Amino acid sequence: MKKRILVTGGTGYIGSHTVVELIENGFEVIIVDNLSNSKIEAINGIETITGIRPVFEKVDLCCKEEVDFIFNKYTDIEGVIHFAAFKAVGESVEFPMKYYYNNMNSLLNVLNAIQKSKNQISFVFSSSCAVYGNSDILPVSEDLPLGKPTSPYGNTKLFAEIILQDIVKQFENLKVIALRYFNPIGAHHSGFIGEAPLKTYNLIPILTETATGVRKEMYVFGNDYDTPDGTCLRDYIHVVDIAKAHIIALKRLIEENKISDYEYYNLGIGKGFSVLDIINTFEKVSGKKINFKIVDRRVGDVAEVYASTKLANEVLNWKAQLNLSEMLLSAWKWENEFRNY
Ligand code: NAD
Ligand code: WQD
Repeated sequence: MKKRILVTGGTGYIGSHTVVELIENGFEVIIVDNLSNSKIEAINGIETITGIRPVFEKVDLCCKEEVDFIFNKYTDIEGVIHFAAFKAVGESVEFPMKYYYNNMNSLLNVLNAIQKSKNQISFVFSSSCAVYGNSDILPVSEDLPLGKPTSPYGNTKLFAEIILQDIVKQFENLKVIALRYFNPIGAHHSGFIGEAPLKTYNLIPILTETATGVRKEMYVFGNDYDTPDGTCLRDYIHVVDIAKAHIIALKRLIEENKISDYEYYNLGIGKGFSVLDIINTFEKVSGKKINFKIVDRRVGDVAEVYASTKLANEVLNWKAQLNLSEMLLSAWKWENEFRNY
């Protein structure tokens, strides 16, 4: 019997790539998503890649009744991967209530349904490097105390981790691994799924849209940081490497009896690249010249952040495989040749 995994936010960017890996690893997937920041067409991409169309349920996880309905309809759920959340840092500063309401209620409703479930549930949570706040110590490792996030979005990830750590002590049927992603980029090598934001923009979609001409120019936020070229350094990691870590985490939760009830791991490549590194490497792999302007620093940006990946390397036996050129080439192919939703 295939193990049934509920993937919240499964039509989203990281969720859709993880659903592909789950199906390819023999899991049966139920996606729940309210399509607030993704399109249903992602399911077509997943089906084209895997030959299997996952079950899709349009559900707003902030609605307790809808969440309970799902857990009552699918009584054999053994795993939950909880991606669903709003994720735009800047928007969260402007509309904190929107972020606290969505990200906390959706998590609590899922946990409430798990509490009522008779099944043993393996739960993988999408956390973020944002939980470390503005760390002076680099690379950032898991043994650092949790910091003070610089936005309401980051706070929702910190609060979620605190809630989960408390809840596992009470729920006998729950084990959790929180994965703290750094900067996920790129697209599936098939070209059938990729980053297709409806309203949330990170550096790479802005860059690829500038390359196609959808945007006339892009802005580099500050070149006066104390970094080698003056622009900010981030730990960019391919989305498929991130997706694969979820399968390892899920299998660990399902198969290993002796692990603790709550674990957390950084997912990055362990090296920082600057914004100019990104633009230069992108120009090389795509052959496109990027029209960019240096402008003022963006409020809230830290100069540099990158992960220590030792824990995930040693305990999960996971290591990112794809390098920066491969990440950027896949993002470019998706935007330029394949993007169909
Ligand atoms: P995404 O916006 O592409 O995917 C999130 C999905 O959740 C979307 O499909 C959205 O429609 C859905 N969703 C949001 N609120 C919902 C609700 N109330 N009910 C049902 N569905 C809802 O984002 P992503 O980049 O795939 O991120 C996935 C997770 O990883 C998020 O929790 C995000 O905070 C976290 N994360 C992302 C990054 C990143 O840079 N992409 C980095 C660190 C952590
Ligand atoms: C990357 C770099 C910008 C756009 C955020 C969250 C983090 C995680 C990943 C969720 C920065 C620069 C960007 C542009 C630019 N998400 N930039 N021009 O801010 O590092 O991380 O997403 O958990 O928690 O904080 O990502 O892609 O917005 O920016 O120069 O038009 O690119 O200043 O240095 P960020 P990003």
